[in-house]
Amino acid sequence: MKLPVNFYKPLSIGAPAPFRELPVALERMIHFFPGHNEKVRARIGEMIPKVDVLLGNLEDAIPADAKEAARAGFIATAKEHDFGNTGLWVRINPLNSPWMLDDVMEIVAEVGNKVDVIMLPKVEGDWDIHYLDQLLAQLESRYKIEKPILIHAILETAQGVKNVEEIAAASPRMHGMSLGPADLAASRRMKTTRVGGGHPFYRVLEDPKEDGSPRISAQQDLWHYTFAKMVDACVANDIRPFYGPFGDIADSDACEQQFRNAYLMGCVGAWTLHPNQIAIAKRVFSPDPDEVIFAGKILEAMPDGTGVAMIDGKMQDDATWKQAKVIYDLAKKVAERDPELATAYGF
Ligand code: GLV
Ligand code: MG
Repeated sequence: MKLPVNFYKPLSIGAPAPFRELPVALERMIHFFPGHNEKVRARIGEMIPKVDVLLGNLEDAIPADAKEAARAGFIATAKEHDFGNTGLWVRINPLNSPWMLDDVMEIVAEVGNKVDVIMLPKVEGDWDIHYLDQLLAQLESRYKIEKPILIHAILETAQGVKNVEEIAAASPRMHGMSLGPADLAASRRMKTTRVGGGHPFYRVLEDPKEDGSPRISAQQDLWHYTFAKMVDACVANDIRPFYGPFGDIADSDACEQQFRNAYLMGCVGAWTLHPNQIAIAKRVFSPDPDEVIFAGKILEAMPDGTGVAMIDGKMQDDATWKQAKVIYDLAKKVAERDPELATAYGF
């Protein structure tokens, strides 16, 4: 184990000091774009104000013969635009691929001062984070990068799930984690071809009825155990949990449900793979105006966060005050980006 005294020291002379606390950022959706697709790239300027995070995807879904073009396209995009307070992320290829090293080397060299977060897929253990952490520090000092580039891990292998707590605690460079249900299904040899969501065959059946009438059965969430484990690992280490992709683009109801479950469980956002999913993420990961107004009443009734108060017939105490604070603080962040919601929240 690394000595506590060394945890926050830069890993290379001249690299920026690691953050002690993650920078505040609104990250309701991480919107993916393929860097090699000229048509998509031509619309990046108009996308920037519409999303919280834009991510150039270099990994899965990019054909092997387009990997270099996707990387070059991402670098050109990063250079061409001012992203303002929209996050700029990149999903690089995995550590065991022939592209990963050039992904990191070229991106930091060319646009290291613009990239906020590198998403690392197929993370198996803290050793994967340590490798990228060290490499980034060396490149940051070589290219005089001003603020540390953060690492976001995708939790998408059985090994990764086993080691999720060590991954979350691996480095002050850790930004957060996303559940990757497609690769995780493959890694576990699950018998499904879906990207997230439920499965009609994964259900619980009510006990048999004496009168032989049909038994009710309900679909269950295949991902709940892993997802909850990931959220706990992230929050315990003060990093951010996200749901990953929802692949059935046409099924916006099921997408919304997946996002909503993630929001309720403590996630700050989810991936959007298609522009149609952006509005869904915005709706779900922004607190509901009624909840914000109610949270405001709790905070007002208990200014120091202790004691007990009755509001609209409901008992409030220190614990509900803390819940109210989470919602209210998030609403403040959302309001800074979204004037319509600011009005709805009564700010
Ligand atoms: C995402 O990368 C996934 O595999 O679900
Ligand atoms: Mg994956």
